[in-house]
Amino acid sequence: MDNVYLVLPSEEHGQSYIDMMTEWEGTGEHIYPGAIKRKGMNYSDWLDVVKSYNHRETCPPHLVPSDTYFLVDDNKKILGAISIRHYLSESLLNTGGHIGYGIRPTERRKGYAKTMLKMALEKCVKLNIEKVLVTCDKINIASAKTILANGGILENEVVEDDGNVVQRYWINVSDLCVQREKLPMKLVQNNLYNGIMALPSFPVVFVTVERNIMVAAAFHFYSFNPPSVMVGIKPEKYTYELITSNKEFVINIPTKEQLDKIHICGTISGRHEDKYHKASLTPQKGNKVDSYIIKECPVNIECQVVHQIDYKGSHKWFIGEIREVHIDENYVRDDALMFWLGQFRSVGDIIEGACNKDILKR
Ligand SMILES: Cc1cc2nc3c(=O)[nH]c(=O)nc-3n(C[C@H](O)[C@H](O)[C@H](O)COP(=O)(O)O)c2cc1C
Repeated sequence: MDNVYLVLPSEEHGQSYIDMMTEWEGTGEHIYPGAIKRKGMNYSDWLDVVKSYNHRETCPPHLVPSDTYFLVDDNKKILGAISIRHYLSESLLNTGGHIGYGIRPTERRKGYAKTMLKMALEKCVKLNIEKVLVTCDKINIASAKTILANGGILENEVVEDDGNVVQRYWINVSDLCVQREKLPMKLVQNNLYNGIMALPSFPVVFVTVERNIMVAAAFHFYSFNPPSVMVGIKPEKYTYELITSNKEFVINIPTKEQLDKIHICGTISGRHEDKYHKASLTPQKGNKVDSYIIKECPVNIECQVVHQIDYKGSHKWFIGEIREVHIDENYVRDDALMFWLGQFRSVGDIIEGACNKDILKR
């Protein structure tokens, strides 16, 4: 293979970009990564758009910031392109992944995809991404081989609404990190969306209703008296239907060791699958609710829905009064798991003791 390089698009790639896109568009096939599509723009305008995706403050609010690179040879001919998303949104975690890539039709079967993905993984390290999610359609055997050749480990397959099966692979790049500094995720002001992005992490819980499990991070304490919690569910989720009709739910607190089960229950819909079976979890009848609780979780909180907030927004909130609680005698709150912006975290250090009664009275 000739020398190849991963470079950020610049003015000098204009003609090669036009050649590549003309060739690619002529085949009528899907073009990956989506960020390289021309959408009627000339090269200069396209360049401005793709650069705007690099930073949260210039990227459109509905998109995750990303970096798109060209794979070029010594003659600056573009052989393919790859986009790296800085973190995972819910849909990227489900099927999109951190990375989207493609090799132009006339340069395939030369090993470029494998090399390009390898180079992109090194960029992921710089972005502080330790575990990289790369997905491909199950029928795309070549892409699966590329991912496997770069250390991908298949976690599961997700069936999309149109029946297409997507394979989800994780590539652990922490070995590539030598004394890597833990960089904080930097956010810049003057972007309304950043008001959400700047929030600290939220506890991850399993929400069970009837015999179904989903994962929620939109979860919060609501009131001490009566003891109540609230959970935010998107209306398209099966769980939303179940809570609306049953008027009850159970909050099951997982431990850090149950991350694999969180991935299963947080990416598959229970509409057609039994997630207790898929995630090897045991359903146990609740005491005060008809729904099942998860036996393997150290805490189960049975709730009855007393109020539903339907105000506009992506999530609809259910307030549940606590009717029954099961707590494992070995449970410590530090075992819980936090989540936001695609990052799972453990609970941090205590910096002031709970014996400070003045704080509790506030
Ligand atoms: C870490 C994590 C947090 C999530 N948080 C929420 C959430 O707060 N609200 C929500 O509606 N979906 C959330 N999801 C997505 C759902 O768990 C997921 O779409 C699930 O497959 C829905 O299952 P269901 O269709 O059986 O209800 C989250 C997923 C993960 C992995």
